[in-house]
Amino acid sequence: MVQEEQTFAALRWIGDVDGYLELLDQTRLPTEVRYLACRDVDTLFEAIRSLRVRGAPAIGVAAAYGVCLGLQGTVELMEADFFFRLDETCRYLATSRPTAVNLFWALERMRQTAELQRGLVLHELLQAMLLDEARRIHEEDTAMCRAIGLHGATLLNDGDGVLTHCNAGALATSDYGTALALLYTAQEQGKRLRVFVDETRPLLQGARLTAWELQRRGFDVTLICDNMAAQVMREGRIQAVVVGADRIAANGDAANKIGTYGVAVLAKAHDVPFYVAAPSSTFDLAIADGHGIPIEERDPTEITHGFGRQTAPDGVKVYNPAFDVTPAKLIRGIVCERGVIAPVTVENIRKTIG
Ligand code: MRU
Repeated sequence: MVQEEQTFAALRWIGDVDGYLELLDQTRLPTEVRYLACRDVDTLFEAIRSLRVRGAPAIGVAAAYGVCLGLQGTVELMEADFFFRLDETCRYLATSRPTAVNLFWALERMRQTAELQRGLVLHELLQAMLLDEARRIHEEDTAMCRAIGLHGATLLNDGDGVLTHCNAGALATSDYGTALALLYTAQEQGKRLRVFVDETRPLLQGARLTAWELQRRGFDVTLICDNMAAQVMREGRIQAVVVGADRIAANGDAANKIGTYGVAVLAKAHDVPFYVAAPSSTFDLAIADGHGIPIEERDPTEITHGFGRQTAPDGVKVYNPAFDVTPAKLIRGIVCERGVIAPVTVENIRKTIG
């Protein structure tokens, strides 16, 4: 078990229905550990959009609590107005980021919880029920991380070198993370791993977040630039790649942080198994394959003025997709809380998730 002082909560609800959401502001890491209080939906919306809270499962949990924020002060409203406010809050939060399906999944769950009670209960009680539902989503996320860790740790051996991209760890979830849950669980089982972390351009989630959280938890961690992965694989240092996902289509094509697809191609070329770890809430079975997954495009200044310093000429044309899609055929297995889906086929996914 990791020690208390090495752990941190990516997010936590403080108080009761009239409470607020606290987020570990990830834009300040690794140099500053500071929590941000979100007392209204606008503050939370900005926090999601600017990646103060990020990672598919954490965005979902944050959005569920965001619905509770949006419904504060509604006790006096007529039922129609209450549901109008609920609808408005869900629609607004749904526009914060487009790719991670957990956001839409969590909002839909909150909406359905409220719909089931329409006409039956007082708003006060309904607000309490919705906070309970958000807390349940939060707790389930913790259980999901542990289950993913247990299923996935079997894929890693003592002494393995493991490469990961972006941050799919404790900072991206309520607990152990998804990809990093495999590492935490393997470590608990006494396996010693050497973890290589891609820096993850342009926002450096690997360098700022993954290296930070793994180092705190006592891992042998080595940071590399994204363009070093091929060389590190050729040198035989990597025995497995593990990444998270933001949305997985019905055929197993998986969207994750930009650069993941490249790593998967490299893994194939070097005969290194490439695994995706994600909860069932990251699957979007309504989308047949990766072509249907919406890919977020972000501000060009993330590339031209990364972290406040200009590194490209004025006026240069920039393309900045935040995610890419790894085709299912490059994925050796998808680890979810219900087990390891391998080989990755429509049938196997339907059997486990559908
Ligand atoms: O833009 P980000 O930092 O939200 O991207 C996050 C990722 O790509 C993660 O790998 C993914 O959300 C899985 S988190 C368990």
